[in-house]
Amino acid sequence: MASGEGSNFQALVEACTNATLHGRVELLVVNNPGCGAQRRAEQLGVPWRLLDHRAFPSREALDRALAEAFQAVPVDLVVMAGWMRIVTAELIQAFPDRLLNIHPSLLPSFRGARAVEQALEAGVTLSGCTAHLVRLEVDSGPVLVQAAVPVAPEDTPATLAARIHRQEHRILPLAVQVAAQRLGLCGPAQG
Ligand code: GRF
Repeated sequence: MASGEGSNFQALVEACTNATLHGRVELLVVNNPGCGAQRRAEQLGVPWRLLDHRAFPSREALDRALAEAFQAVPVDLVVMAGWMRIVTAELIQAFPDRLLNIHPSLLPSFRGARAVEQALEAGVTLSGCTAHLVRLEVDSGPVLVQAAVPVAPEDTPATLAARIHRQEHRILPLAVQVAAQRLGLCGPAQG
């Protein structure tokens, strides 16, 4: 699931291609027509679908459509790889312990939107990213993998976000492997 650029989505596809991750990306769902993630899916040859949140009467209705889309494939795991919508029990309960999220902070610090800006405003000298299982409370849930990055005094939201992004691309495939292993879907995680 992706809403924007889709660099994390691409990192997952590439991890499968180079066999760092023993899996396959079966379907991308985007909510913003023409977003970067959709374009990347077209280039990478990954099936994609548009479920535009603006076309649904409620968050629950969108999440029911998402769950149905993934159940129809079917898939073992669902990854919110830059999904900028709050999800509801409709999706979480359809994939118990199988719904993952990536967030650009060391959770539980700096939940919600603007996590990178929040870290800069707080003056922390370390930030990072967290891949975790999704629970009802936004940006909470058991941590699967985290990575820390230094924050430089001259950092802007753009420079810090870029440094965090590089780590997200590394830990998200690893988190998928960890989650799959815990569910007994595959062998131990590497790297
Ligand atoms: C990432 O920073 C992720 O942590 C956040 O949204 C961003 C998505 O980036 N949830 P991209 O679309 O994968 O490039």
